[in-house]
Amino acid sequence: MILLNPGPVTLSPRVRAALMNPDLCHREPEFADLQDDIRARLLGVYGLAPEDYAAVLLTGSGTAAVEAMLTSLIPQTGELLVLENGVYGERLTRIAEVHRIPHVRVQHAWQAPLDLPRIAEAIERHSALSHIAMVHHETTTGRLNALADIGALCRVHGLGLLVDAVSSFGAEALDFEGLGLTACAATANKCLHGVPGVSFVAVSRAALSHPDGPRRSLYLDLRSYCEAQDRRSTPYTPSVQAFYALREALAELEDEGGRQSRNGRYRHLLGIARGGLRALGIEPLFPPEDCSVVLNAFQLPHGIGYTELHHRLKDRGFIIYAGQGDLAATLFRVSAMGAIAVADMERFVDAVREAIAF
Ligand SMILES: Cc1ncc(COP(=O)(O)O)c(C=O)c1O
Repeated sequence: MILLNPGPVTLSPRVRAALMNPDLCHREPEFADLQDDIRARLLGVYGLAPEDYAAVLLTGSGTAAVEAMLTSLIPQTGELLVLENGVYGERLTRIAEVHRIPHVRVQHAWQAPLDLPRIAEAIERHSALSHIAMVHHETTTGRLNALADIGALCRVHGLGLLVDAVSSFGAEALDFEGLGLTACAATANKCLHGVPGVSFVAVSRAALSHPDGPRRSLYLDLRSYCEAQDRRSTPYTPSVQAFYALREALAELEDEGGRQSRNGRYRHLLGIARGGLRALGIEPLFPPEDCSVVLNAFQLPHGIGYTELHHRLKDRGFIIYAGQGDLAATLFRVSAMGAIAVADMERFVDAVREAIAF
């Protein structure tokens, strides 16, 4: 079965084999070595200096990392501006609500790009703002949001920038230093090709050592994880097997040429899907310049609903992904993440041809 859903991904044989490594106690030095290795390799994906940034590992899904980032980095006196144009932007607001973090939101329709003048106006209007939170790749629609423009606004106004990079870290460009990113939350089992169960926050050490650093959560407190991990320890029981898999996945990413090479591979794979589906009369939601290289959304073909299309493709060995909310009626999504070969994507196009002619 080839998974074209946006994580968990189709595993490579190498990553799957890493799950069978020997049992390991997380209080032994071998685990500390594994953890150190992963933390260094995660920073290496974007060439970050360990003096400036820390990769803080959590056992949990991507949402755990996003929640840890927001609850640990916005000071008690701070205020957040949330940018929403999809499910995951709206989840940032939900996290702020649950933890009673003072926030304002700039809402957009799910298919809309971020409206920079409206965002600039919101910044001007709310003088107590300390941070902006946004999603880099809004997986709801496949849109790659204008991170550089928001980073520039943050610089001008002296705001921290907290980024949900759950579905972009490892494949899309993230100019941490150039944009002055405060932190990015991400996960092992999307563009990095590990297994679910480990997530992480790549965070500026300066932001983490802020004197007004809040403690809103026990389990999701980034500071306690970072302090323990810097001491080669861990506060709680980590998902050891998922750590093994992540280390192997990061080594594989390096062997394949790193982030740029993965970006090129995804671009090529989605190019095959876009070209092949368009020839079948199935149009992408956005032009390529608005999309990530990671996932594209497509209009459902006439005369066939999502469930029927999904089942016919599953019978042929491919899992596609539904649109969320109201988009379920009109869209389906295809991701390039995971151990997917060019031949797989070509077979997928053939499978769609068969499925709609069925
Ligand atoms: C942009 C983005 N943020 C957050 C999440 C939530 O991740 P998880 O389901 O691993 O908690 C996802 C999942 O698809 C995502 O795409």
